[in-house]
Amino acid sequence: MSTDTLFAAETAASAPVEITIRRPDDWHVHLRDGAMLRAVLPFTANQFKRAIIMPNLVPPVTSVEAAASYRERILSALPEGSDFEPMMTCYLTDHTTPDEIERGYREGVWRAAKLYPAGATTNSHAGVTDIAALAPVLERMERIGMAVLVHGEATDPEIDIFDREAAFMEASLLPMLRRHEGLRVVVEHATTAETIDIVRAHASHAACTITPHHLVINRTTIFQGGLRPHLYCLPVAKRERHRQALRKAATSGEGCFMLGTDTAPHRRGAKQAECCSAGIFGGATALQTYVQVFDEEGALDRFEAFASLNGARFHGIPVNEGTITLVKKPSTALAAVSVEEEDVVVFRGGEPLPWSIGEIRP
Ligand code: DOR
Ligand code: ZN
Repeated sequence: MSTDTLFAAETAASAPVEITIRRPDDWHVHLRDGAMLRAVLPFTANQFKRAIIMPNLVPPVTSVEAAASYRERILSALPEGSDFEPMMTCYLTDHTTPDEIERGYREGVWRAAKLYPAGATTNSHAGVTDIAALAPVLERMERIGMAVLVHGEATDPEIDIFDREAAFMEASLLPMLRRHEGLRVVVEHATTAETIDIVRAHASHAACTITPHHLVINRTTIFQGGLRPHLYCLPVAKRERHRQALRKAATSGEGCFMLGTDTAPHRRGAKQAECCSAGIFGGATALQTYVQVFDEEGALDRFEAFASLNGARFHGIPVNEGTITLVKKPSTALAAVSVEEEDVVVFRGGEPLPWSIGEIRP
């Protein structure tokens, strides 16, 4: 899964040797549960101070009690001495009630709710079948100031997979933004230039997360020399012009663009399979990849805004106090992480990376 070709064309000649920024947050993470949670959590906890935890477990995290106990399982799986803070989310279904949403928010159990159109992606079958019918829940969220995080892909199997994000934006997101003008909406893992434009046009109450992989691969990379299952995720990477638009947006410094890795581990057997699961495990190489992109774009001075400021501001919480230093010093990424008798392949794993993680000050 080499991404060398794309990088080689873009490597900038002049760059400072290191950069120190406030500790970053990851606004979109899949930590899973059990053995997988224990295997992947240290990587996210090492890179980030806080992270928004996706609720698409089996069964999904739909109640206040389920979210509170998942949070406890994450805290008990943390490496000794870690100060990582998971920020929990509620999985919206057709049966979610406004009162349950408000209770979890007031009790400080969850920070946001995740809207999966039913069937859009991994473990989303219990998601929302009719977004218009969710209006009472969204109105309550608007009133209490709770953000909704949206997986923006249409689910009609007739729609070309590369057009599903665009179709969702037209049919569902724009109407939602118009109906709920005070609702804070995060479009998750944006993959198209058009989504970027929509977010920018609604920046008073909309934002989006951008993943490391969508900044460095395009849809052709998935087929480079053969089919590369470890580069398959949803939304699937799009054409090169979209990747370029994502890079410009992420490095623009604009407050509506924030870091969200969408690190989504699956065991090797589930990826190298007849029907490959969607998801890229980017948690172990996320900051190294993001900072490389900012370096290549000549925008290292805007990296802190994207990684450590914009998300906290959008969600209305304080930015982190500590710092992390990223050093332009080559390192080789770990190829894979063991989980019981199997492993999970690391995004850019085994490749030489030009940037490394340096000192972290709490
Ligand atoms: O590629 C993906 N994997 N996209 C998603 O939306 C879900 C995720 C997962 O949970 O594996
Ligand atoms: Zn995700």
